[in-house]
Amino acid sequence: MELFNVYPINNITITKAKGSYVWDDEGQQYLDMYGGHAVISIGHTHPHYVQRVTEQLNKIGFYSNSIKIPLQEELAKKLGKVSGKADYQLFLCNSGAEANENALKLASFYNDRSKIIAFTKSFHGRTSLAVAATDNPNIVAPVNRTDNIIFLPFNDEDALVECFQKNGNEISSVIIEGIQGVGGIHAASVPFLQLIRRLCSEYNAVFIADSVQCGYGRSGKFFSHDHAGVDADIYTMAKGMGNGFPVAGIIIAPHIHAKHFMLGTTFGGNHLACAAALAVLEVMEKENLMQNAESIGNYLMDELKKLPYLKNVRGKGLMIGFDVPEELKDLKKNLLFNQHIFTGEAKPNVIRLLPPLALRKKDADEFLEAVKEEIETMTEKVVS
Ligand SMILES: Cc1ncc(COP(=O)(O)O)c(C=O)c1O
Repeated sequence: MELFNVYPINNITITKAKGSYVWDDEGQQYLDMYGGHAVISIGHTHPHYVQRVTEQLNKIGFYSNSIKIPLQEELAKKLGKVSGKADYQLFLCNSGAEANENALKLASFYNDRSKIIAFTKSFHGRTSLAVAATDNPNIVAPVNRTDNIIFLPFNDEDALVECFQKNGNEISSVIIEGIQGVGGIHAASVPFLQLIRRLCSEYNAVFIADSVQCGYGRSGKFFSHDHAGVDADIYTMAKGMGNGFPVAGIIIAPHIHAKHFMLGTTFGGNHLACAAALAVLEVMEKENLMQNAESIGNYLMDELKKLPYLKNVRGKGLMIGFDVPEELKDLKKNLLFNQHIFTGEAKPNVIRLLPPLALRKKDADEFLEAVKEEIETMTEKVVS
């Protein structure tokens, strides 16, 4: 049997990882400024994480949601504390798309409506409703097409007000990334998020904060939407939650009530997933990783802004993007193959940095030196 060929892959086989570094099968070391697509939060193979997951696996890895799983309650309590949303309720699942799917569905159960507002350049996942709310027709199959999604321009307050004035009583939910990731690292503006909050409250619509990529401390606050000082009704999360273990969830404001069987999952919230998620939160707290993301992120952005050719350095914490001009169109490839540094990209010309939240200053300096060297080589101009 062959693999279904959906990924354009680099010819690299990673066999070992530690902190912000990975090694290939020939022993070559790489700096991971991509975090396996924003997934590695506390650092690869963190000893506390390895120990907690291993110990749990030796006790019990999985049993279904038909029994009590005290680890789920422990996780809910810890997540409430670290995220500052102690009065929310937790539903666990397995991936970012599934989290968004559940959030959109729950919103619809809540207000018995079916229209969803999403925004240009959004990415919410590849399952049915999540992909329908994603602004990329290339990944929406005919079966996913629905007229329940209303796409509005990102950060356009007038368009949002007009839409609510016209269709307000039909809008079930508004779904928005606090910082668009796949869309190229663009932050929702503070007034825009505040307006969404106000309109959702006024029209009894549900504000869904997609925090799959921008959440879990990456922006320097637990949820990037927190920078606007507003509370969403549902937050969706995945990626950094398990530091590589597939675990995801939604947290739900207290006014939305659960009914038996309205949501459900076989694997979600299993013992092993909870142990991984707890280990992540424990390390985040103990090592002050949100503060680290903020300070190292600010340092990286300040230094990147000093470099020639790089345009529109932007982001928050360790979710950073910048545009590269035509001369540097091979920068991502050259960083990988000449400098042995993984970075991410967003088409057509954006480099995305999504490193572990435990990135150290010396790792950031190594990256900055490498970028300088590549700019010099690619433009034959010395960068001071
Ligand atoms: C903002 C956002 N939402 C949802 C998803 C989908 O997550 P998953 O790939 O775990 O289904 C992603 C994945 O990149 C994402 O960036």
